[in-house]
Amino acid sequence: MTHTIKCNLHIQGHARILTLGILLIFLFPISVLAADNQEAETLIQTTCSTCHKFQGKEESRFHLKAPDLMWGGSKYQRDWLIRWLTGKEPMLYAKSYRWDQGQTPETHMTVTETQAAAIADYFEQHLKDSKVTVGAFHMDKVTKRDIEVGAFIYKEHACIGCHTIEENGQLVGGPQSANLADSGNRYNADWLFRFGINPQDYVPHSGEFLADATEPQLRTLIGYLMALGVKDFKFYEPWTSQEFSQASVERGKVVYKEYCSQCHGAEGKGDGPAASGLNPKPAIHANIAFDQLPMDYLYNVINFGGRAVGKSPSMPYWGLTIGQQGVADVIAFLKATFKGAPQPAQTGVTASGPSGICPQPRKTQKAPADFLTLSNPLPSTKSNINAGKTLFHETAQPLACKQCHGEKGDGRGPLGGGLVPPPRNFTCGSMMNDLPDGQLFWIIKKGSTGTGMMSFAGMPDEQVWQVIHYIRTLAK
Ligand code: HEC
Ligand code: HEC
Ligand code: HEC
Ligand code: HEC
Repeated sequence: MTHTIKCNLHIQGHARILTLGILLIFLFPISVLAADNQEAETLIQTTCSTCHKFQGKEESRFHLKAPDLMWGGSKYQRDWLIRWLTGKEPMLYAKSYRWDQGQTPETHMTVTETQAAAIADYFEQHLKDSKVTVGAFHMDKVTKRDIEVGAFIYKEHACIGCHTIEENGQLVGGPQSANLADSGNRYNADWLFRFGINPQDYVPHSGEFLADATEPQLRTLIGYLMALGVKDFKFYEPWTSQEFSQASVERGKVVYKEYCSQCHGAEGKGDGPAASGLNPKPAIHANIAFDQLPMDYLYNVINFGGRAVGKSPSMPYWGLTIGQQGVADVIAFLKATFKGAPQPAQTGVTASGPSGICPQPRKTQKAPADFLTLSNPLPSTKSNINAGKTLFHETAQPLACKQCHGEKGDGRGPLGGGLVPPPRNFTCGSMMNDLPDGQLFWIIKKGSTGTGMMSFAGMPDEQVWQVIHYIRTLAK
């Protein structure tokens, strides 16, 4: 008996020491945290507040010493904030925050890592922005195309007039306000989106500008900014989504009848009621081998329209009208229904016209004189020809040349059969030898107006000359 009691007491004694130990382990960091929190609050109240505002109403920059931080808990990515506070980030305002007072930028005060982490905690706990809806911006839905459109809007809507970004390792744009080159590592996307809806809610009378952008445009712009500075940004590919895995050919057939046949014709022959007035003509879907075309291109031309891929703006952008499921369904229908042009007869004449024949009738516009006299500035070396070959067969954006001009360059690619007039036959030496380099260069850059030849305006000159070297090797 006694023995067991003793034993029990002994065990209880151990348990008490253990509990005390556990309590200590738990209490210790709590007390440290509390102390950090207290220190953060004191720092903010005694030091940071001498320049920044942490409460009250948003105000004009011209009444402030430093940017308002009332929304600090929603605006920044935590890691950026800590880097900023520990002095590891470059200044944001190249001409100083108060450029109007002729100040030069001074380096920002720094704190220790621990203090910075505590300040970040404090921001998250006390400086949440009630205007921001968490999850309003879908970072996991940003496509490559969104970013291209966003980049375009950034320049077309004057953002670059006041905010710098990085291009080829250099800062470009007007350094009036915050540098946005590293936006993707700095902002919280939901905050940035809310800021974009109306900047005056944050920086009234500070010189900021409200762009005339629709919500979808604003989203592409935010997607673009959120990718700036981010290595290996992971793009969303809509054709991997559920809408595509559950696409229905039957539903797609209905979409086609309701929306596409008015131009492309009930049977995809390019002869809908609107076709007679269009130039270029709507593609002859019946002659396109849809399952050979890359999904990104099909998705982009249907969802974002002809203009998005350097083609006619008369091909509408359907995404808003038929939604993602509609786009997925109509693509399923196109792939299931249209398998390409009939095999060319011996004369080389296909249903769509004289594709592959030699010489082809050319109604192509003549390049301006200063282009016609250009000759290829690059030597016709193996490496230039190979670089051109890769562009032609694989990498040219928005679509590789071979998809229209064909694997052999004879104009019989999977999409080529659907175009009137047909793609140029580069194998036809007697015709190609009469076309100067400058003519080819001009058409590749600008596209051929009124035809299915899109513009490759985004292709650097050097690459255009490389692809021309490759095209020249195809002529027989
Ligand atoms: C002497 C004035 C001053 C003090 C003190 C000061 N700041 Fe700043 N802070 C500035 C100025 C000026 C800028 C804009 C700097 C620039 O050109 O990038 C700035 C920028 C910032 C930014 C980025 C703002 C933005 O553009 O979104 C944060 C965050 C920030 N400070 C936090 C703090 C915190 C936290 C403290 C206290 C630990 C603090 N600052 C102390 C003047 C000050
Ligand atoms: C005419 C000049 C001007 C133009 C154009 C302009 N901005 Fe601004 N921007 C400002 C000013 C001023 C502020 C307020 C911050 C400040 O005082 O510098 C600001 C603030 C911002 C901020 C918040 C910066 C921060 O970290 O606090 C973002 C993001 C921004 N602008 C994005 C844009 C985008 C996107 C566009 C194009 C649609 C654009 N701006 C066009 C002047 C401009
Ligand atoms: C208002 C007329 C019009 C309507 C309606 C229309 N399209 Fe088009 N589409 C065109 C024109 C014009 C072209 C040729 C564009 C070019 O070559 O520049 C085209 C081309 C295409 C192409 C080929 C792209 C290429 O590279 O040549 C596809 C695919 C396509 N449309 C799909 C559709 C689908 C799917 C619908 C219905 C959801 C549709 N179109 C509705 C006018 C239309
Ligand atoms: C969507 C289909 C399509 C794609 C993709 C395409 N082309 Fe074309 N291309 C055409 C069509 C159609 C024509 C005929 C235009 C005409 O008759 O004016 C053409 C004509 C040309 C011409 C003839 C210019 C002339 O003066 O006769 C050149 C050069 C050319 N394309 C180069 C390219 C290169 C290089 C690429 C890839 C970087 C490319 N094309 C991609 C459809 C396409």
